[in-house]
Amino acid sequence: MRRGSAQRLRLLLLILCCSSAVAAKKPTYIVHMAKSRMPPSFAEHRHWYDASLRSVSGSAEVLYFYDTVAHGFSARLTPAEARALARRYGVLSVEPETRYELHTTRTPEFLGLDRGGGFVTSSDSDGDVVVGVLDTGVWPERKSFDDAGFGPVPASWKGGCEEGKDFVPAAACNRKLVGARSFYRGYEASMGPMDESKEARSPRDNDGHGTHTSTTVAGSAVPDASLLGYAAGTARGMSSRARVAVYKVCWVGGCFSSDILAGMDKAVEDGCGVLSLSLGGRVADYYRDGIAIGAFTAMEKGVFVSCSAGNAGPVPTSLSNVAPWITTVGAGTLDRDFPAYVVLGNGENYTGATLYGGDPLPSSPLELVYAGNVTNTTNGNLCMLGTLLPEKVAGKIVLCDRGINSRVQKGYVVSEAGGAGMVLANSAGNGEELVADAHLLPATGVGEKAGNAIRSYLFSDPSPTATIVFRGTKVGVRPSPVVAAFSSRGPNTITRAILKPDLIAPGVNILAGWTGAVGPTGLGMDARRTEFNVISGTSMSCPHVSGLAALLKGAHPEWSPAAIRSALMTTAYAAYPSGDSIIDAATGRAATPFDLGAGHVDPPRAMDPGLIYDLTVDDYLDFLCASNYTPFRIASLTKRSNFTCDATRTYAVSDLNYPSFAVAFPATTNDVVVGDATTVKHRRTLTNVGGPGTYKATVRAWAGTEAGGVKVAVEPSELSFTEVGERRGYTVRFSAAGQPSGTTGFGRLEWSDGEHVVASPLAFTWK
Ligand SMILES: *[C@@H]1O[C@H](CO)[C@@H](O)[C@H](O)[C@H]1NC(C)=O
Ligand SMILES: *[C@@H]1O[C@H](CO)[C@@H](O)[C@H](O)[C@H]1NC(C)=O
Ligand SMILES: *[C@@H]1O[C@H](CO)[C@@H](O)[C@H](O)[C@H]1NC(C)=O
Ligand SMILES: *[C@@H]1O[C@H](CO)[C@@H](O)[C@H](O)[C@H]1NC(C)=O
Repeated sequence: MRRGSAQRLRLLLLILCCSSAVAAKKPTYIVHMAKSRMPPSFAEHRHWYDASLRSVSGSAEVLYFYDTVAHGFSARLTPAEARALARRYGVLSVEPETRYELHTTRTPEFLGLDRGGGFVTSSDSDGDVVVGVLDTGVWPERKSFDDAGFGPVPASWKGGCEEGKDFVPAAACNRKLVGARSFYRGYEASMGPMDESKEARSPRDNDGHGTHTSTTVAGSAVPDASLLGYAAGTARGMSSRARVAVYKVCWVGGCFSSDILAGMDKAVEDGCGVLSLSLGGRVADYYRDGIAIGAFTAMEKGVFVSCSAGNAGPVPTSLSNVAPWITTVGAGTLDRDFPAYVVLGNGENYTGATLYGGDPLPSSPLELVYAGNVTNTTNGNLCMLGTLLPEKVAGKIVLCDRGINSRVQKGYVVSEAGGAGMVLANSAGNGEELVADAHLLPATGVGEKAGNAIRSYLFSDPSPTATIVFRGTKVGVRPSPVVAAFSSRGPNTITRAILKPDLIAPGVNILAGWTGAVGPTGLGMDARRTEFNVISGTSMSCPHVSGLAALLKGAHPEWSPAAIRSALMTTAYAAYPSGDSIIDAATGRAATPFDLGAGHVDPPRAMDPGLIYDLTVDDYLDFLCASNYTPFRIASLTKRSNFTCDATRTYAVSDLNYPSFAVAFPATTNDVVVGDATTVKHRRTLTNVGGPGTYKATVRAWAGTEAGGVKVAVEPSELSFTEVGERRGYTVRFSAAGQPSGTTGFGRLEWSDGEHVVASPLAFTWK
């Protein structure tokens, strides 16, 4: 999430103030058990797990037992106890818990959900789908959770609505919000008892993030929605008929994997059909990544798992949540903007973006100062708390630079020092990307170039002045979408042969529901309360895809999670109608598959993809064998304690039936190599989900990029289908000469019957 810096700062402060207390505590471990190996002397798994724990520690208490998406438990242990436990019979792994961080009105129109015969309203079938949102909880008293016109909760739903502080189930849950639970044992075990004056030990959302993501997934239509007049229109979630269940796993101090796993365990048991996780951490191998472990079993049970790709872009290899059974979602912009002009005393003006909603500035220009010149500290240009000198700021407009503290806090700092307004300049890392904020004083963000121009005016003019003119909401912005600079980028560092992210969806300046506990800036000093808020991040793009998955699942209940992802990916668009590739905001140039995967979601086309790349659990098991996973690692991930890879078989990661292709040259032993290491073969199988037809393969260049001289041969290059469900295989040979290490190349493989285009991105790298 983009609002993240405020949250991170809060986390940081917490760690600093309490580090001695935390250090004295035992860390939490997640213990994966080979459930089927339970000795017959135990009547129940939990007794066995408990006895295993007792055998290494007299005092340790189980925090959670995991029964569904993981087999095992979590507990606080000393490192020595953890090592001893790892040697016990039936223990697959003992992994220290990790802490994760949290990483819309115009969206339905922008995505074309109102074109193509209005399939959104024509079918109520997504009303049978419950989307589980693992986040900061929910503020149920929002019109987005209105259940008017909803039929009874699906009979298969086994979830619950838990009572807790400020959370009364009878008032909170209904036929739209069908479940609400909270998980905090791991959080409190690590951080100590929570401060209930700041957060509720219940599903109540004290942050806003969870209310925003859950209403993006499936909020009911709310007319006349806006934030302080901005982004006005009807707000509704992607699947306005689907039901929502919230699992509060994120707290002021972060999201702990013992709690996340417990939330996923319950969500799958409750009967969620889709899970949405807008959170992530440092990327880790799948068998040590709690979300990947939970998502494997969710996938096996037919549950679609959508995760945010992270906000660590535009740096390469900055992705999180890259397991191939997870759908990894990056962020793009909408065609909507919130412009404000910075008009300088020299007559020049620069366009910025803002969600400031109060009184405008006087029309006469005000004195303009650079924060770095009105401070007594070296980092004063960043407008950190208490660093501006009031006598030099009062009544003036201050130019602050982005970085370290949150954008909205900088505005607060300027207003505390008596400033009249603020211009917030992007750093090089943010480029020209404008993320709008509901600032507490008249303020606007500007791009890096405008920031540099304003700074040089400031340094050269003897008496610089400026004013800021606010222009409200503008729609129809072109080009759109562009890949958000912050959206995390590939290549995938865990499995180079699997391309990630999978796709992008709207994640910049998204309007959706908000908590009543804090104002739109999330700052303690922001006394405003709004029903909606506009925020940005891959946290916002992930729930778009979760909601679309619910639509697809409703329309095609028989589709597997891989089939749903395939439909979304192969119909995504990577170019504008002009044929030019979607642009990357960070560079202003063509985005590549490492930035946007297959491209931007196109829901009406995803409803009728023609063909899909399906995947079963066995395919993923083959993938784990191809990845040379040990039996214990496979067992932790898959909960199969007696699965073994077939020693007589040759497994290849490149055979995983994925809707995209990532090829690393020179080939390694994990690839299917033809001849020398310059030719790599991938196998794929297409399944017909449309009418009869003959599809022909075409390989295209990726507009605006080099292909790196790779020859692509598809065999056969024509596939005919007559029946629904019919499967046809093909192979692709990628042949390339050597290139300098670090070279990349891109292309696109399309299968078309003249009506459908089933497209896959191709990405090549050289080591
Ligand atoms: C900004 O400058 C352009 C010309 O470069 C002009 O058309 C426009 O009116 C100016 N806007 C404001 C708010 O001064
Ligand atoms: C303001 O700061 C810049 C660099 O940070 C410096 O070059 C300039 O001389 C300063 N101006 C004044 C008036 O102090
Ligand atoms: C800098 O200015 C702030 C605000 O006036 C003040 O609180 C702080 O003590 C000053 N620091 C130094 C090192 O002078
Ligand atoms: C796995 O092993 C257990 C005991 O070792 C056995 O009871 C069970 O049938 C086996 N399961 C499979 C699927 O082979």
